[in-house]
Amino acid sequence: MANSINKKLYTKITLLSLLFLFFFLVAKSIAYSPDFSLAIGCGSSTNTTLDKRIWVGDNIDNKNLFTFIEQKTTNPSLKTSPSSASNIEIPYTTARISLSSFTYSFSTITSSPVFVRLHFYPTSYQNFEPSKAFFSVEVNNKITLLKNFNPSLWIHEDGEKITKEYCIQIKSNEKLNITFIPANNINQSNPYYAFINGIEVVSMPSFLYYTNLNDPKYYLKSLDFDNTNYQVLNDKALETVYRVNVGESQVPPGDDTGMFRNWDNDFPRYLEKQYPQSISSDFKHHLNYENNTIQNYTAPEVVYLTARSYGQYATEEYNVTWNFEVDSNFTYMVRLHFCEFDPNITNKGDRAFQIFIVNSMAEENADVIRWSGSRMVPVHKDYTVSINSEEGSSQIERVNLSLKLQQLPKTMFTKYRDVTLNGIEIFKISDKNNNFFGLNPKPFILSPTEQGLPTEQSKKSTIVIVVVVVVSCLMLASVIGVIVFVRRRRRFESHVEEMDESSWTKKKEGEVSSSLPSHLCRYFTITEIRAATNNFDDIFIIGVGGFGNVYKGYIDGDIPVAIKRLKPGSQQGINEFMNEIELLSQLRHIHLVSLIGYCNEGEEMILVYDFMQRGTLREYLYGSDNEPLTWKKRLEILLGAARGLHYLHAGVKHNIIHRDVKSTNILLDEKWVAKVSDFGLSKVGPTGMSITHVSTVVKGSLGYLDPEYYLRQRLTLKSDVYSFGVVLLEVLCARPPLVRSSEKKKASLVVWFQKCYNEGVIIEEMVDPFIKDSITSECLKCYCQMVLSCLHDDGNQRMSMSDVVGALEFALQLEMSEEDTKSGWTHEKEKSEERQQVSQFTSEDGSDVCFTSSSDDYGSQTSKVSTISASTEDQHLLYATVFSEIGNPRAR
Ligand SMILES: *[C@@H]1O[C@H](CO)[C@@H](O)[C@H](O)[C@H]1NC(C)=O
Ligand SMILES: *[C@@H]1O[C@H](CO)[C@@H](O)[C@H](O)[C@H]1NC(C)=O
Ligand SMILES: *[C@@H]1O[C@H](CO)[C@@H](O)[C@H](O)[C@H]1NC(C)=O
Repeated sequence: MANSINKKLYTKITLLSLLFLFFFLVAKSIAYSPDFSLAIGCGSSTNTTLDKRIWVGDNIDNKNLFTFIEQKTTNPSLKTSPSSASNIEIPYTTARISLSSFTYSFSTITSSPVFVRLHFYPTSYQNFEPSKAFFSVEVNNKITLLKNFNPSLWIHEDGEKITKEYCIQIKSNEKLNITFIPANNINQSNPYYAFINGIEVVSMPSFLYYTNLNDPKYYLKSLDFDNTNYQVLNDKALETVYRVNVGESQVPPGDDTGMFRNWDNDFPRYLEKQYPQSISSDFKHHLNYENNTIQNYTAPEVVYLTARSYGQYATEEYNVTWNFEVDSNFTYMVRLHFCEFDPNITNKGDRAFQIFIVNSMAEENADVIRWSGSRMVPVHKDYTVSINSEEGSSQIERVNLSLKLQQLPKTMFTKYRDVTLNGIEIFKISDKNNNFFGLNPKPFILSPTEQGLPTEQSKKSTIVIVVVVVVSCLMLASVIGVIVFVRRRRRFESHVEEMDESSWTKKKEGEVSSSLPSHLCRYFTITEIRAATNNFDDIFIIGVGGFGNVYKGYIDGDIPVAIKRLKPGSQQGINEFMNEIELLSQLRHIHLVSLIGYCNEGEEMILVYDFMQRGTLREYLYGSDNEPLTWKKRLEILLGAARGLHYLHAGVKHNIIHRDVKSTNILLDEKWVAKVSDFGLSKVGPTGMSITHVSTVVKGSLGYLDPEYYLRQRLTLKSDVYSFGVVLLEVLCARPPLVRSSEKKKASLVVWFQKCYNEGVIIEEMVDPFIKDSITSECLKCYCQMVLSCLHDDGNQRMSMSDVVGALEFALQLEMSEEDTKSGWTHEKEKSEERQQVSQFTSEDGSDVCFTSSSDDYGSQTSKVSTISASTEDQHLLYATVFSEIGNPRAR
């Protein structure tokens, strides 16, 4: 039942993505169309269409394209299929298998270099065991692509497939012969064999990867000696060892620029655990190739429109690191793709950083705008690096090729101390004998085979889908607008597919952090959820919310998670639920509780979130035995929460109104990092100018409700600001927003505060006695102005969430300068410099409510403080232009 819902959903998604492909074909001509492109389903007797192209059978009469040649032997090759055929597509449905050598010979095809792709599905074929597949693959008896290769040693779990890709340039009068040679047989009763499932030969532009000696701009920097020039000449062959789209999801071969290259995603396989933020352009603008920095077929647009960076708000100092396992004793070409799409970055020097490849400095001052000349202009940079064995031995070893991005040192200027990267390609360059062969990896322990869909069924459903698609395409051929929607769907689909990979990583590493990667959304079965919560045992309940109960559970053995089970019969339909999940899985921010996955089976709709060790902010304010927090810690937590809300309001494609901001929806992880929770199931907010609010049934919590909202049902982003204002007061005074039993004038925290303020009563009376002594009057004044602004009756008069972030940053700076004063002005200079830098890359908004209105008050402060506020003001002038665009939020 549940499976069938799932399958239906999947079918729907597949259908939509096929639709998209159709539109893609119609709407947009592909950047490059190869003069030669052939895909062979080895061992197949029919032609099969997949991903916009035909895979031809290898026994079909295709003599004008290629011939299949084998020596006359007593053991002719077999055409066969995998013994356990689970959920596979062409070319993996059939194989050519042999105990002796065989050759695919391609007629003189093209004068351009070609991609040769070899596809292997390591599994049992008839009575051939995967462990006995050992063979070499040669091209024209000159280039050894593979030697003593055993595909089953390269997979991490059953059912995985291997593709090897090479770039080869053959002389124009020669044939291209690809020969498969089984390893020498010692034991004739259990011999080695060679097999292949699919071969592709696709031509490429002459100088996509090979050096054009006539191009004066071409520069391939060698990192081995003193950064000299290097050339990849036609007599060399290249093996693509990694091709990665940094930031977002995988780009499948059908979405490449016409050469059917596959672009992997970088997480979880390559990016190191301390992952940075995945960012993406709004996709509304297209790349600009007019500067001729690169050709438009170099990489698909989506590669350049997604990236990773520390994120505007990150403060940690770490290298953003990707690790790639490679064979030692070879030279590698590393191509890095860049494109600046962040609207904040427009000039040289706005975002400069450093790049290390295998710990050698590749770029001391990498600056994408300097290279490209402008935003939305893609560029790439090429490097070569020789990789040696750990101890310099001549033995080939599997070693790590690391790529690291690091902030510029403090001594060098850049406006944002941030890094960025969009794509990575790594090629092994053939050695002097034109060999590539390296080591087989150490065997992995294979898990028991998973039973998937039987092929028959999947074939049938593919046929059904294709028919349906063709029909619907005819009907819908004019609806180009669908594309955008479908694109989002497709991304979602790839999220779902990534599940398996992440579970593999877990098994292998044994331990993982509870923060799952930023772009995954995992599917849980109800059995898993029941196991994690002891069948929804009440003792696991950690929260009861409007939407249902929240349980603590453990997944994958020991990873704590919060499991939110929506009330059965809630108004959420399955479509809304899936929409929410799609939306939630795109919302990633250090100050938001991450959605790990979901489950929907039968009536159940369940969301699985990261578990927050320290619980809610309220538990540290009142009503518990917890040690009270210091003023500084409170400011830091509020600042974090404000950044999380600001991200919801302005940082993503849609403005999202949280609708239930309160101190129990601000959670704390083990490092006291504030995370806003329960933003799920909020409605997407206004995006255009014409609609300024969303009318809905009043939801939210008593004591935090925006009066405009409950009186006039007018819900805006400013409703969250109001509620946050209440939280600010709660934190300052350490009491609930409403206390019915107390004196009437003090029952409502907001009313009491406003009354005191208007009547000029000293606010200090209200402040939590525990922090009273540590707040300076300046800081309190700034804080109270912020609270008043947040609580303004008229939503339009309230500050925005980004203003709140700015004001809290300022309050924190005041607090820290106060601490400095106390600690005797030690390291004053460095600290103040540091702070300026902090403000340079953390405050990104044009907030002026707190600063300008209060800057006069600070004129008499010590010179240090005025330096800070002056620089902050400059900063604000600087950013004012940028953030006039705030109504036009960009995607992340
Ligand atoms: C390719 O194989 C064919 C048939 O065996 C042979 O005639 C031809 O010389 C080979 N070409 C090369 C370049 O090895
Ligand atoms: C050859 O393989 C068979 C079957 O696996 C095995 O029984 C036999 O011992 C092997 N002989 C040698 C010499 O390794
Ligand atoms: C980043 O990597 C480089 C090169 O290995 C190293 O010199 C530097 O110390 C690293 N930086 C940090 C913050 O770990």
